[in-house]
Amino acid sequence: MVQVNADYLKLKAGYLFPEISRRIKDFSANNLAADLIRLGIGDVTEPLPMACREAMKLAIDEMGTEQGFRGYGPEQGYQWLREAISENDYVSHGCEIAPEEIFVSDGSKCDSSNILDILGKENKIAVTDPVYPVYVDTNVMAGRTGEANSKGEYKGLSYIPINSENGFEAQIPKERFDLIYLCFPNNPTGAVATKEQLASWVEYAKEKNSLILFDAAYEAFIKDDSIPHSIYEIKGARDCAIEFRSFSKNAGFTGTRCAFTVIPKSLKGKAGKQEIDLWSLWNRRQSTKFNGVSYIVQRGAEAAYSKEGKAQIKRLVNFYMDNAQIIKANLTSAGFEVFGAINAPYAWIKTPKNMSSWDFFDFLLEKANVVGTPGSGFGAAGEGYFRLSAFNSRENVEKAMERIVKL
Ligand code: MLT
Repeated sequence: MVQVNADYLKLKAGYLFPEISRRIKDFSANNLAADLIRLGIGDVTEPLPMACREAMKLAIDEMGTEQGFRGYGPEQGYQWLREAISENDYVSHGCEIAPEEIFVSDGSKCDSSNILDILGKENKIAVTDPVYPVYVDTNVMAGRTGEANSKGEYKGLSYIPINSENGFEAQIPKERFDLIYLCFPNNPTGAVATKEQLASWVEYAKEKNSLILFDAAYEAFIKDDSIPHSIYEIKGARDCAIEFRSFSKNAGFTGTRCAFTVIPKSLKGKAGKQEIDLWSLWNRRQSTKFNGVSYIVQRGAEAAYSKEGKAQIKRLVNFYMDNAQIIKANLTSAGFEVFGAINAPYAWIKTPKNMSSWDFFDFLLEKANVVGTPGSGFGAAGEGYFRLSAFNSRENVEKAMERIVKL
């Protein structure tokens, strides 16, 4: 019989979101009439921006002509999209990121997992707690951890708590780590990192020769002008950070699939004593394992940077952030302690009466028919918290709030 990758057996239960779906399915099977409102997974609900749709339609028509047809595209992404990203997301914000340093992909979830392919197994890794579970689970799958303890913490990973006591700020560790995952605006807590905080991380990484994996998938939701959208807004970050970005949440591409990863050419790692540049390794990895994102989708993503595209995306982002505000205001006035939801589309709620996260999940599901995400699914420090996503229609968000407030 074939041997399986036994590291998968170390994974705790199911991946969070499939586990939630399983519970909803069971609940729905026994409560056929229940009108469920889903504020669980951060999946967008509003239609794709017109500018992106028009661009994709044109691209489909081009593909139907002899001259316009395209087969395999460049594995790194089409140059025109990489240029649009470089100019609009970086250069115009004072960040020196060249088009060649941008690798277009089909998702940040995949990229933040695949990056482990080019990083050695002996690296000491730190994640925040709570954390986007993909960073942890992919390290487990890749055999970079030991077993989990009863709290779900894996041997071999270090956890940096972000909680109400430290203002949801990831404190700089005394210890040296090779690899640190940071996500700001944060999923799940909705917290943001100030320029000073990110500068301290960059300083730490440069001093300790560490690599920061910076997930900026929610940067479009930042309202406060003083909060950095990219780690490259911090001087020196080109030498110590990789950044992941996505069109999923801002342009509604969760189902369309397009994202990108920035690997500055100045980033170095080592193999034994030899210095190796990470860009070349990632380029080699992508060229071998990836055939690029479809031409049609990349044209759609490019249109996100047109004048119309930008305006439409701004409206989408504002729409979801108004939802976030409605969630925060309603729950706060109902006596809940609510964090986040100001510069991020997630509200991070302290569960009432010290209920466990999963108990509160079941309670809301049964009594209000509202689905959220249990904080403990994001790590041990998420226990006693609950995440509500602002990605839904206004009607559903208002209805959900009415039901919860009444409880
Ligand atoms: C979430 O709900 O945390 C997100 O949808 C996860 C993701 O973007 O993969």
